[in-house]
Order: sequence, then C-alpha cells, then structure tokens
Amino acid sequence: MSDAASPPGFEDAFHKAAERHERIWVFISMVLLSLLLAGTLFFVVLDYGVVVKTDGYRIDPSAGATAPLADAGLVRTGPNAYSVHMLAHLWAWTPSPLHMPQGAEITFHVTSADVLHGFEVQGTTINMTAVPGITGAVTYTFAHPGTYNIICNEFCGIEHQAMIGRIIVDPATPS
Ligand code: CUA
Repeated sequence: MSDAASPPGFEDAFHKAAERHERIWVFISMVLLSLLLAGTLFFVVLDYGVVVKTDGYRIDPSAGATAPLADAGLVRTGPNAYSVHMLAHLWAWTPSPLHMPQGAEITFHVTSADVLHGFEVQGTTINMTAVPGITGAVTYTFAHPGTYNIICNEFCGIEHQAMIGRIIVDPATPS
C-alpha cells in the first residue's frame, strides 16, 4: 500500500485499524467456536444420551459369582424393558450371541472376570469400561433390527482383537 497519493500517516492509521479489526474478529470467531463446541456437547449428551451410569455395587470377580448372572441372559424388568448381566473375560463376552427385541429398553450391567475390557457396541452410543470387581450400567434402546458387534476397545492381551460378541436385535412383531 505504498501509494504515492496517500496522505502522510495514512499507512500507519490503516494498519492500526486493520489490526484492531483483526483482533476483534479473531475474538468473535473464537467466541462463536466455543459456543458451537459447548452447544454440540450439550446436544450430544442430552439428546443422544451419551451418559455412562455406574451401578456402584461391587462384585467378587474371583468367586465366579458373575457367571450365573450372565448365564441368565435377558431378564424382563418391565412391560418393554429388560436387563442383562454382561461378563467380559479373556477373550470373550458372555452371554453371546444375545437376542433382544427391537425398541425395548435394555439395561446392560457390565463387569469383568479378569482384567479391564472395553464394552463397545458398534453403531450405538454404548461405550463403557468393564472393570473387574465393579459393575457399571448403561441403558440403550435398539431402534433398528440387525446384528451388532460387541467389540473390546481396551487392550487386554494377545487375543484382544478377536474379543467380539454379538447382539441380535429381532424385529418387533406387529401387534
Ligand atoms: Cu478384552 Cu480387549
């Protein structure tokens, strides 16, 4: 901008004004980005229910006390609600495969018999850590029928990558 026709002092004033505008707009864009981030977070947590709840009760992993619970499979707890005790162990999920009806509210009580495992159901928001000695709970409703993979997302040893379970959501029968 070294135009010979510019009045003296014009360039300095121009740059100062430009810098002030830049600062203001950088600030505004940062505020907007922060609001967007916070808004998205609220939306995801409140609308999609990305909240992990913990039962808070302890269970003795060495006693094998969790196995009978897991063997029980899906237990009806309400008109359209079920619960299931899901046991992680080297290197599988029990029970699996696990059938459940479409559209029902399913509460998973998840624990581990040995080391830390990750309980993640692909294509859903279910993602929690299976901790030996502690059970955690997560509730989910499968809106669509199909086969869902339970994958372990916590490295747990040599067969970690093969630790896959199956959830089969059966189509709701029209009434
Ligand atoms: Cu279990 Cu990785």
